[in-house]
Amino acid sequence: MRQTSRTQMNAGGTPRLAITPPQIVGPFYPVTERPDLAANLARPSGSADEARGQLLYVRGRVLTRSGEPVPHARIEIWQANAAGKYRHPSDTNPAPLDPNFRGFAQLTTDGAGRYAFRTIKPGRYSTPEGEMRPPHIHFTVEGRIDRLVTQLYFAGEPENQTDRWLNSLAQPERLIASLQAPPSHLEMGACVAQFDIVLPSG
Ligand SMILES: [Fe+2]
Repeated sequence: MRQTSRTQMNAGGTPRLAITPPQIVGPFYPVTERPDLAANLARPSGSADEARGQLLYVRGRVLTRSGEPVPHARIEIWQANAAGKYRHPSDTNPAPLDPNFRGFAQLTTDGAGRYAFRTIKPGRYSTPEGEMRPPHIHFTVEGRIDRLVTQLYFAGEPENQTDRWLNSLAQPERLIASLQAPPSHLEMGACVAQFDIVLPSG
């Protein structure tokens, strides 16, 4: 299943995209890291080696409900490493940190509302309450008017069926992207996820 911007119609017959649903910020918003500005979480600035894990490209557009691109929107992303560990002092998960992965970046959409970043697929992890969270990437998106906090999930993960944050949504599939094979100019073995984000007004 490919994540797409769902289209609705208003009374006048004008296409209206469905707003991307919000999710909680969660406890691991970075407090000790500075965001990487190079859109390459799989090899952060200053790292000699690649991060461990499944190489993943995430790309999409930020749009308004009427389908207009949102240029120069600020996006922050943060995520666990491939072992499910956040680089955060409150993360008590005994899984190891990856010296080549910090998991925090800041991006800006281009003039057509597009964004893209290179990362590794995050691992699943257990909450202190013992609930297993599916792999996900946290997003905040700030347009000129709107601010959205959400999470991106991946198709085919068994925990997607039970995760209470994802399943708190009427349409959880709105936040689930399928993993596609890479185009020829990207590394073999990488995968690609498309995630369009719709803000109310931009
Ligand atoms: Fe998380």
